[in-house]
Amino acid sequence: MFTQTRIGALLHQDHMATIDALQELEAFLADHRAPPARGGQADSFLARLSALLRAEVEQHFAFEEGRLFPLFIARGETGIVMMLTHEHRSILPLALKVAETAARAVESGFDDATWREFRDAGAELVEREIFHVQKEEMGLLAAITALVGPEADAELAEAYQREVG
Ligand SMILES: [Fe+2]
Repeated sequence: MFTQTRIGALLHQDHMATIDALQELEAFLADHRAPPARGGQADSFLARLSALLRAEVEQHFAFEEGRLFPLFIARGETGIVMMLTHEHRSILPLALKVAETAARAVESGFDDATWREFRDAGAELVEREIFHVQKEEMGLLAAITALVGPEADAELAEAYQREVG
């Protein structure tokens, strides 16, 4: 298993929560051709989605880029770092756009134009980010198992709990 390290297990948990939320988003988009009715389940889902996406691309990405990737670069693993950083750059603005549109809809609902915008950005995000997380689950977690020793693991896990939660 790739969750032999504490930091690998923590990142894996986050990845699974992200995949769950993206699959929920995909189902939500499929269920609503027209803007969803206000209040109730739609609003609670949109609020939860908005918070999760924001945390994912602001704290989780920042942790990987700031704490983990420098360790990989120090060991000569620049290829995987360049690829994943590039994907982060393409996902971050899209995820923030979906998070902001969702948060605004909780405040004041969707109209036809904002619903279309949300659908388009949401569908694109589902595709890009599920693929990205699957790649990290294979490549990144395997690299952590191979490259991160027990001391670095303990430090990373503590930093993660402080910075990402
Ligand atoms: Fe990640």
